[in-house]
Amino acid sequence: MRILVTGGCGFIGSHVVRQALMIPNVERVINLDALTYSGHPQNCFDIEDSRYHFIHGSINEESLLKEIFQTEQISVILHLAAESHVDRSINSVKPFIETNIEGTRIILESIVEFKRLGQDIHLIHVSTDEVYGSLNPEDPPFTEKTSLNPRNPYAATKAASDMLVQSFVNTHDISAVITRCSNNYGPNQFPEKLIPLMTLNAMNGDNLPVYGDGKQIRDWIHVVDHSNGILCAMLGLIMGRLSTGEVINFGASNEVENIEIVEKIIHLTNADKSQIKYVKDRPGHDRRYAMGFQKAKKILGWYPEIEWSEGLAKTVEWYKENSEWVESITSGQYREWLTNQYGETI
Ligand code: NAD
Ligand code: TYD
Repeated sequence: MRILVTGGCGFIGSHVVRQALMIPNVERVINLDALTYSGHPQNCFDIEDSRYHFIHGSINEESLLKEIFQTEQISVILHLAAESHVDRSINSVKPFIETNIEGTRIILESIVEFKRLGQDIHLIHVSTDEVYGSLNPEDPPFTEKTSLNPRNPYAATKAASDMLVQSFVNTHDISAVITRCSNNYGPNQFPEKLIPLMTLNAMNGDNLPVYGDGKQIRDWIHVVDHSNGILCAMLGLIMGRLSTGEVINFGASNEVENIEIVEKIIHLTNADKSQIKYVKDRPGHDRRYAMGFQKAKKILGWYPEIEWSEGLAKTVEWYKENSEWVESITSGQYREWLTNQYGETI
């Protein structure tokens, strides 16, 4: 297997790169990352494996992508590169359309071109539970058969890219699987997302901005479990346990309200409840996500292994112990985002 990981300097991508290198018959792992605001070389700086190589560039650079396919004889793409933050997509959807849709289009057309030349490339397209929309309290979790109903611009661009992938399977007979996962947490997550934002603010004595009533629910999964799932899906596709065009959901049966998470983080950081500030709700805020993952269990033998309380405590610990990482990414640009998003609140 000669693997191209897109977005390997991001949160999940950096764990995928590490875990892919643990598979003995992986010959090569190329990490193509544009190093946007959420991509950090530090996330992979300690990888010394000679099979690993980082390339600074964008999936939107078609000629670069094809050069990598050819010179590295790529046989699998783990496609994670994306604009990934809902709040940013509400402010401006353009970069989401460019990377999540147009970037995926370029990957797909390049795969078709190489297939015609006799080089088959399997694609694992990494997507999200948000494409299914929002659940009511009494609804069962999403399954792979749930209709797509994206309700925010980020989710809409992910759903569009999922449908493009499926159309290329049907029309051009490429080999591809779509994985959809619930909210990830763990080390290396950029602190614009709930858990790292609250952790850093709690540690610094800053305010903790809870949107709306704080009772929205997400199904939290540790990033290492998700990354394992992506690699299981890759092996499943290559070894024929999964057919091309299939969708696989990953989740953790771990539905938690946002406010409960914030309170746990306050406890883990010895912060104070008075730091909680209820702020204006996110427009169109999805109330509840929950993922059914019976298919992954049955076909891939995959299930989440990291227990939530322990996983969260270790994650908070990681942020406490990695102040150099935190300082390197909470630069001027990050401060600007906080001011722009939260105003005087934090
Ligand atoms: P992230 O924002 O931390 O990382 C995204 C990475 O992609 C960054 O390293 C960035 O530099 C890179 N990138 C952006 N545009 C690029 C381009 N044009 N070319 C090359 N690289 C580019 O995101 P994440 O949380 O690690 O998410 C990774 C993937 O997993 C995304 O596709 C996301 O939709 C999906 N996902 C995330 C979650 C979650 O909870 N974070 C859950 C389910 C699915
Ligand atoms: P987030 O980490 O942005 O992930 P997603 O929107 O993809 O689920 O947000 C998780 C939940 O936390 C979501 O319900 C929004 C909420 N939230 C806050 O209440 N305050 C915040 O400052 C942020 C960033 C998120």
